[in-house]
Amino acid sequence: MSDAVDMRVDLAGIPLRNPVLTASGTFGYGTELAPFLDLTRIGGFVAKSLTPKPRIGNPPPRIAEVPAGMLNAISLENVGVEAFVEDKLPALPEGVTVIASVFGTEPAHYAEVCERLAEVPRVAGIEVNASCPHVKAGGIEFGQDPKMLGDLVTVVKRAARQPVLVKLSPNVTRIADMAKVCEDAGADGLSLINAVQAMDVDIRRRRTVLRNGLGGLSGPAIRPIALRMVWQAAQAVKIPICGIGGISTPEDAIKFLLCGATAIQVGTANYLDPEAAGRIADGIADYAREQGFPRVSDLVGALESW
Ligand SMILES: Cc1cc2nc3c(=O)[nH]c(=O)nc-3n(C[C@H](O)[C@H](O)[C@H](O)COP(=O)(O)O)c2cc1C
Repeated sequence: MSDAVDMRVDLAGIPLRNPVLTASGTFGYGTELAPFLDLTRIGGFVAKSLTPKPRIGNPPPRIAEVPAGMLNAISLENVGVEAFVEDKLPALPEGVTVIASVFGTEPAHYAEVCERLAEVPRVAGIEVNASCPHVKAGGIEFGQDPKMLGDLVTVVKRAARQPVLVKLSPNVTRIADMAKVCEDAGADGLSLINAVQAMDVDIRRRRTVLRNGLGGLSGPAIRPIALRMVWQAAQAVKIPICGIGGISTPEDAIKFLLCGATAIQVGTANYLDPEAAGRIADGIADYAREQGFPRVSDLVGALESW
């Protein structure tokens, strides 16, 4: 039934069969989840952030459950760009849209990863992780400082061949300003939000729950914050936005589309239900059909004012 609605969207020059992606760091390199979800049911997935060389990340405990969400301080453990291209990409089923996420502690590292990916046709787009809230160097600094953010986008755009989405940090005072900085520096689109900086304490041990102390809060707890930020960013820029934060149902996803997101990503919800993204894609199609929208893209920004 859902095939009556045209579910295709164009996300900053990346053609997607539907607007549902899975979020970086919550879906591995695609192969881990492929046995549980037919990846051609969704628009695509964003792979774990890549650095030039492999990275081990923080020692445990580095994830914890909190009310309506989770805390993590994985700190960007990844196989490095070379193993991603040589081992991970070829293991993926055909027809799956892959967006690579890039990270570095300085702009030159981002450029190095983008240059390696430039000649890799399986990579449909680049997402710049300018917003990891718990690494010691880089990450949050890029996402929080407008000048550094703009310079990073300029460097990445010079190195990348594919469309570039910049993933914004929510840990800023005015998200609209950051969105504008990226647009002015040539970003093709934006992804927001990354996890919200947070912490928790174990009172029996009188220690922080995470060994790192600080972590990133994700899951339903952050959804209204993410929705607010997507809406504000959408008012500020013309480039397309990919909405992220606490999406676990079709209804959640539809709210982001109405607030101006062209596509959305499912993150923490994958841990509870690896099929969540497929279910969300089907549910969006059902809603569009019920509401009389022939194209899912007609829902984008369709929020009515009072
Ligand atoms: C365990 C874990 C690891 C993550 N790793 C990354 C990462 O490598 N790169 C990145 O850009 N975001 C990473 N994120 C952030 C998510 O992509 C997403 O922006 C965030 O979790 C909010 O979405 P959610 O509430 O749907 O999970 C990670 C999140 C979690 C929970």
